[in-house]
Formats: sequence, C-alpha cells, structure tokens
Amino acid sequence: SAESVTLMKQAVAQAAAQEVKSGMVVGLGTGSTTAFVIQFLGERLKSGELSNIVGIPTSFQASVLAKLYGIPLVTLDDVERIDIAIDGADEVDPDKVLIKGGGAAHTREKIVDGLAEEFLVVVDSSKLVTELGSTFPVPVEVLPLALSPVTRALTNLGGEPVLRMGVKKDGPVITDQGNMVIDVKFATIHDPAELEKTINNIPGVVENGLFVGLATRIFVGELVNDQPVVR
Ligand code: A5P
Repeated sequence: SAESVTLMKQAVAQAAAQEVKSGMVVGLGTGSTTAFVIQFLGERLKSGELSNIVGIPTSFQASVLAKLYGIPLVTLDDVERIDIAIDGADEVDPDKVLIKGGGAAHTREKIVDGLAEEFLVVVDSSKLVTELGSTFPVPVEVLPLALSPVTRALTNLGGEPVLRMGVKKDGPVITDQGNMVIDVKFATIHDPAELEKTINNIPGVVENGLFVGLATRIFVGELVNDQPVVR
C-alpha cells in the first residue's frame, strides 16, 4: 500500500541520515525518499546532535527542502570535497548500477553523487531489479534545440524515445537547467557502462540517468511482518 511504502522510505531515510557526522559536506538528493533524509538531517541539526554540516543540493526541490529544514547550503565552488551524498534511485541492479532521473534531476545528481567520497543510495525494495531497464526507461536530458536529431539517434541505438510531458502543464517537462527529458525504453541493456557513454556521446545530450560504478552502498527499506526494516 502507499502507506507502507512511506513507512519504508522513512525507515531507510532515518538510517541514512544517521550516517552523516558533524562537520561533513553532504550531497542532498532528489525525490520523495531523500525529502525524508533532508527532514531528518534538519531535525538532528536542530536537536544539537549534529553540528557544522553543509549541504549541496542536487535540485531546486532539494534546496527548497534544505532551507525549510535549516540545513546551510553551499555550491561546488565553495568546497573541495563532498564527504557523503545520499540520493534515491528509480532502479537498482545487483551490481549497484542505477537508473535515475525519474524526477528529471539526474544531471546534477550525477555531478554531486559522483564527487562524493561515499554515495549512499536510499530505496524501498520495489526499486530492486534483476535486469536493469526492465521497469524504467533511461532518462536523457537534452538541449531543446537538439531534440529531433537526439531522438533519431536514440532510436538508432535501439531505444524507444518518448519526450517527457508535464503533468499540470501542456508541454514538455523543463529541467532545472532549462532543458528537456527524453525517456528511452531499451528492450535489454547488455552493457550499461557502454550505453551510458554512447548516449552521452550524442551531440546535444546533456546527461543520461545510467549511474555505473558510482554507488558505494545501498540502503533498502523492506516490510517484514508489516514492520519497516532496513538492510
Ligand atoms: C530524481 O531525478 C531521481 O533520480 C530520484 O532520485 C528518484 O526518482 C527517486 O525518487 P523517489 O525516492 O521519490 O522514488
């Protein structure tokens, strides 16, 4: 049920927030699970249990939540290292390869998560897949002027590209960077590392949502006897 998914997300977010120590530079992820992480971090700061942390947001959403919960923000120009990034995912495979970008934030997420010493992924068990791409297309952020040629190139790679449309808007989703997103369904993804590079090599592509070799740990929220547990 929706309620049990929320319980799993909160449990996993709480466990992840505990990994942050005083003085750390923290990458703040995007999505409904990391929203709870940001909330828990704010509460730990407020109670005095944690001090002196700064956050680097991966999206407009993350920065709004960080301000709401009292986490000081900095940019990549202000720090020389990121100690830990905590972020969600849309799919996680057995090799810790991820598909991200369901929230259209994967470009900034890959920059921040990829720079972090530790990149901790927070998901509920519904995100775990045996075959990458089986439940989720690969999001590709594209410069608007290159939409047509990039769409053709993605079809030529064997994908089924679909321009992501807004929900309460007549027209395409526009990313935080002012670009568009093409969701590309692939029948199978044999070599995610190769596909990640091939897609990013298409002129006009900004970044795609395949995250290979970046995640260091995965926290998974599950329900056991109706109780949320984290493993
Ligand atoms: C944002 O673009 C995505 O990469 C998110 O991290 C992903 O959609 C996870 O969101 P939920 O935690 O809401 O599932």
